[in-house]
Amino acid sequence: MNSATLELPVIVGSEQEQGIDISRLRAATGCITLDEGYANTGSCKSAIAYIDGERGILRYRGYPIEELAERSTFIETAWLLIYGELPRRDQIRRFSDLLTENENLHEDMKYHFEGFPSNAHPMAILSAMINASSCFYPGLMGAANRERFDIHAARLISQVRTIAAFSYRKSRGLPIIYPKPIYKYTANFLHMMFSEPYQDYELKPEVVRALDLIFLLHADHEQNCSTSTVRMVASSQSNLFASAAAGVCALWGPLHGGANQAVIEMLETIVESGDDGSKFIAAAKTKASGKRLMGFGHRVYKHYDPRAKIIKTVCDQLFASLELRDPLLDVAKRLEEAALSDPYFVERKLYPNVDFYSGIIMRAIGIPKEMFTVIFAIGRMPGWIANFKEIIDDTQGRIYRPRQIYVGAPERHYVPLDARGPSAPR
Ligand code: SDX
Repeated sequence: MNSATLELPVIVGSEQEQGIDISRLRAATGCITLDEGYANTGSCKSAIAYIDGERGILRYRGYPIEELAERSTFIETAWLLIYGELPRRDQIRRFSDLLTENENLHEDMKYHFEGFPSNAHPMAILSAMINASSCFYPGLMGAANRERFDIHAARLISQVRTIAAFSYRKSRGLPIIYPKPIYKYTANFLHMMFSEPYQDYELKPEVVRALDLIFLLHADHEQNCSTSTVRMVASSQSNLFASAAAGVCALWGPLHGGANQAVIEMLETIVESGDDGSKFIAAAKTKASGKRLMGFGHRVYKHYDPRAKIIKTVCDQLFASLELRDPLLDVAKRLEEAALSDPYFVERKLYPNVDFYSGIIMRAIGIPKEMFTVIFAIGRMPGWIANFKEIIDDTQGRIYRPRQIYVGAPERHYVPLDARGPSAPR
């Protein structure tokens, strides 16, 4: 057992959070740290998003999420996250022009869509098509990343929306609807999703604003599972599209971005079973049930997720404005009320997270639940791009390569097939 004493520097962040710099630990002691799930481990220094989980704070480049939700738009916030400052008028105009110039996919991409079965999960299609699209831009690969980053970033933000809409139309056997330059980002997405060749979708301002807010509230969230994946892939000097495609795969999981789809499926099950929610909550408190109250709990927030508060307000406003009713919303509110006063959830500091109400808004807009995590990916794209840029801008950066504690077999030697003991019965 090693019993060395070592003095290690402490890194202090902008908000006085402290990290012990262990970069010399193994060289000095032969030991590494072990922190499964990385709950206590910082992978990087970053200037993009700040979360205070105890106080329920989220800021993008220092701006409180509440202010951005009230006064900004998704595209302005995307520029802020990627470039670090609120854009001037000329900057946002150039960015908007780049998004419009890059909103179409290469026409040959439609043959890729033909190859998917109609019931293919749109997250599988999204990840595949982001990489497929990069094949049409050979300059995307390698060091060209830095010189043409602005174009690649705008192209990815613009095209992720087009790929998502096209995959929805294909899954329903509907004709593809191409983007229209007259529409701004979110309106254009809704147009590509729901217009028909003979009639444009009616863009209700409250619907466009609600979806734009969903994108904005999902835009970044420090070193979550998918963003860490994007950084991991970027650290090997892979290109932006490959890094983002990997982020899509990490986001897909029901413990992460897939939770918004899992929440709706949970609420549907509760409503269909006639349960008022109490049975499900009892099951979610019992490990053996294998059930969890989806949309509740968070690795970092041990208080109400500030995004969940905003989304719940947006939900209520949208429903009032469109005079909507949804039994799932009623059940969700009952579950929240019950859980917030139940010792099991209170003791574990489990509160609604960003996924608890977001699906109800998307369902009200007419987006199918299989697309919910795709919507999350569209929103998170600027955050992934901003983290990718932090990696390529760090000229001293190193490839991400964690260590491990080996718990497998000790050294042993090859045994010929005939000498391996009695074969198991066929
Ligand atoms: C997102 O990281 C990010 O920032 C993610 C995200 C982002 O913007 O990128 O915010 C987006 O992914 C939000 C989270 C979406 N996932 C869900 O809603 C799925 C349900 N929630 C969980 O499975 C869970 O809360 C996690 C995955 C979110 C967090 O998991 P942790 O931090 O590993 O916590 P844990 O699994 O160790 O749970 C601690 C305790 C356990 O009980 P005990 O063993 O202490 O008795 O809390 C319990 C868990 O069983 N618990 C839950 C629960 N979440 C945790 N019990 C019932 N229902 C839940 N939802």
